[in-house]
Parts: sequence; C-alpha cells; structure tokens
Amino acid sequence: MNEHDSERMAGMLEAEGYVKTTAAEEASVVVFNTCCIRENADQRLYGNLGHMKRIKDLREGEMRIVVAGCLAQKDKDLIQQRAPYVDVVLGTHNLASLPRLLSESHEGPAFEILEQTEVFPSALPARRTSPWHAWVSISIGCNNSCTFCIVPAVRGREISRRTGEIVAEVEQLVDDGVIEVTLLGQNVNSYGRDLDGRPLFAKLLRELDRIEGLERIRFTSPHPKDFRADTVEAMADCSRVCEHIHLPVQAGSDRVLKRMKRAYTRRRYLEKVAMVRQAIPDVAVTTDIIVGFPGETEDDFKETLEVTAEARYDAAYTFQYSPRPMTEAADFDDQVPKAVVQERFDRLIALQQRISLEQNQRHIGCSEEVIVEGVSKKDPSKLSGRTRTNKLVHFDSDGAREGAFRTVRITGALHHYLEGVLTDGRNGEPRARLTLPLVASGTGCNTCS
Ligand code: 5AD
Ligand code: SF4
Repeated sequence: MNEHDSERMAGMLEAEGYVKTTAAEEASVVVFNTCCIRENADQRLYGNLGHMKRIKDLREGEMRIVVAGCLAQKDKDLIQQRAPYVDVVLGTHNLASLPRLLSESHEGPAFEILEQTEVFPSALPARRTSPWHAWVSISIGCNNSCTFCIVPAVRGREISRRTGEIVAEVEQLVDDGVIEVTLLGQNVNSYGRDLDGRPLFAKLLRELDRIEGLERIRFTSPHPKDFRADTVEAMADCSRVCEHIHLPVQAGSDRVLKRMKRAYTRRRYLEKVAMVRQAIPDVAVTTDIIVGFPGETEDDFKETLEVTAEARYDAAYTFQYSPRPMTEAADFDDQVPKAVVQERFDRLIALQQRISLEQNQRHIGCSEEVIVEGVSKKDPSKLSGRTRTNKLVHFDSDGAREGAFRTVRITGALHHYLEGVLTDGRNGEPRARLTLPLVASGTGCNTCS
C-alpha cells in the first residue's frame, strides 16, 4: 500500500512538472513516505531525516523535505519537534494535498493531517515503477481490530472503491501496456461491504478476469476469517488469477489468536488452507507470522511451529512482535523477553527455510511461465522473473526485455528462489497448470534430512 502511495505521490509531482532524480544533492523536493507497522520501520526515519538535513543546509533553501505516510499520521507533532526543518507533513488521508502543501510551504512549514478519508482517492495520477505491473487499490483502511496492529489507527475505517471504477482503471492500465495487476486492500475479502449492492470480492475477480490483454491478476491480502469458498472458486475458475494466496496466520495457538482478536481458530485456518489446496492443487501459499506476542508461552509457540509444518508454506514473512502505540496489545503486561523471542524466531526461520526449500525443490524439472522482471540481482549475466505462483527464478539471459514472457525449465532450488534455463516454449501458451510431485509433510527433502 505504501509503495502504491509513493507511486501516486510521484505521479502528482510529475503532473506538476517535477522530474525524477536519483541524487538527493540535485533534488528540489525529497519525500519520505513512511511506514509505522513495526518498530524498526519507525526508528529509521529520524536518522534519514538528519542525513537529508545536512544536504538541505548545503542547498541554501533550494530543497524541501516532505514526510508522508503512516508515521506522519501517527507522529505529526513529534516530527515538528524533532525535525523542525521538515517543510511538509501530510498523513495517509490527504495524499492529494501534496502539490498544494508544497506550494504553501514557500511561506513556511505546511502540516496537514486529517482524521478520516472522506471519499476514495481514485483519480490520482501514478508514476508506476514498472511498465508492465500495476498496483490497484480496491479498498483502503481496515475495520478489524487485531490487537497488535496500528493500521486501523493510521489508515482509518475501510472504504471500498466502486467496482466500475476498478474495472475502468484496469482496462486503462492494460491499454497502457500493463499485463499484471496486484489488487490491494488490508482485507480484500471484505471488499464492497460498505457499497450499495454489496459487491463481493469474488465477483470483482470474475469481472477483471474478462479483460482482454490482462495476463495475471494477483491480490493481497485476504483475512482468513473472511476468506470463503466463493473466492476460492473464483480463483480456480479465472485463468488470469494467479495460483498464489497470501493468507496471514499470525500465530498457531487458539489462545494467542484470541488475544490477537483474529476471529479464527487454528483448525478453521487450516481448513481454509486445505480448501484452497484442494481447489487449486499447485497453489503457492504464503503467510505472515508474529513471534513473541504478549503472553506467548513455549507451548503456544510450538503450535505456531505445528501450523507452519502442516500448512507447508512456500514462504513466510516472520516478524518479532513489537508493541505499537494506539494498539491494545501494547498495554498487555505479559510482554515476552527479547531473548526468548529471538530464540523462538530463529527456530521458526529454520523450520520455514527447510519447508520453503522442499516446496521449491518440487519445481525442479518442471517448465514454468515467467514474466521477466529485469537483470538478475544475484548474477548480472542472468535475468530474473516470477512464476504465476510468485516464485523468483534466475535464468540465463537471452536479452529479453522487462515484461516479456519466457518459459524456463527449473534446474535448481534454494529456499528463496529457483534457478532455470530457457526452453523453446514461448509466451507460456497454453497456460497449463503444473502437477508437482508431492513431498509428504515432515519427510524432509532429497538433499538434506
Ligand atoms: N509487531 C510485529 N509484527 C506486526 N505486524 C503487524 N503489526 C505488528 C507488530 N506490532 C505484521 C503482521 C502483518 C504484517 C504486515 O506485519 O504479521 O500481517
Ligand atoms: Fe491490521 Fe488486522 Fe486490519 Fe490486517 S486485518 S490491517 S492485521 S487490523
């Protein structure tokens, strides 16, 4: 969501005549788009601002510094106190005010934080970082109240965007050369509950699937409590919807899930994973997991390990719990000591890396359609691309441009990427579903025990 907001701010600045530079020394405007979901994201801002101040001082009034995003929403007064040289502060609800605030800042600091978004900010221009991929926001805000999460406090109540507007935006993007979209919402499955006729997310997927020229549809993220059969059926029926689901579990113990106010149990969650796997046999499942939520015992944590092993995630984003202001859990008095969290975290990572490796090794020998993302960061003589299951593949280069389709045969696997060689197949046509060999849970893989 933040990346997309950055693209929209860049788009608004370009519409005002600004051009992008990679050198801060040349910039007339520097925007820090901030995130405060976890503590470490939060702490980096002031160091970065201090660094930028030194550059600004050399520029004798020719540079303006903007702080936007969640941290600005949370910390407006603090930013003013700790970094009085910041020219513009704007929150999450008024992105569209950036050009106006910049022009007001010629007269002195311009700070504007609103409490709520009034209408869905649909019509903002965007400067996409990729010519072939676009983020498409379908809803903003969140009506849930997970006790660890600061998002509802800084992003406000959920507002859905009208289906017709989403479809029109995607059609326009496709006309502009986009072949893959990622639909964004804090909880995509509650999409439409606030709109007339209460359109469903599954229906939206089916409408977007009809758009000629669009190749891949991704979305992030569904909330397990709202993730139902109609979405799974739409995923299975819609050939453009990719075989990947990101289903954040957060914890494996019912006691912890209850204190997190996640509104599902371990059993219900695993049933949903099983439902997707049954409908889409080669689907990749990824998740978010928090370790060390207040009151988490060793037994609770073991249940997280058990769920991780049973769900057999292709990848997991693992986080150490950090108390956030304006959240219920920050006031719980049974915070887990840092050393205990770290030790559990290391165990979880070791388990998940083994499972990711095993999941990836199942692809060895298969041919996969990838969209080229550019020169491989691992080896500049190679290209990298992503499969429909969102796996990164590094493969030998034929000079293909970004956004091109290639078919690669997978020759190697590590836990966080695949290696492959180009095959003769072009454009991944027809879009065949893979049948991967099964690795039974807990049996280990071929190369390590
Ligand atoms: N501490 C640690 N991780 C958190 N997340 C959200 N809030 C916190 C927190 N206070 C994680 C969740 C969420 C992901 C985006 O960030 O796992 O799904
Ligand atoms: Fe945060 Fe929960 Fe909303 Fe996700 S569903 S944004 S974790 S409150």
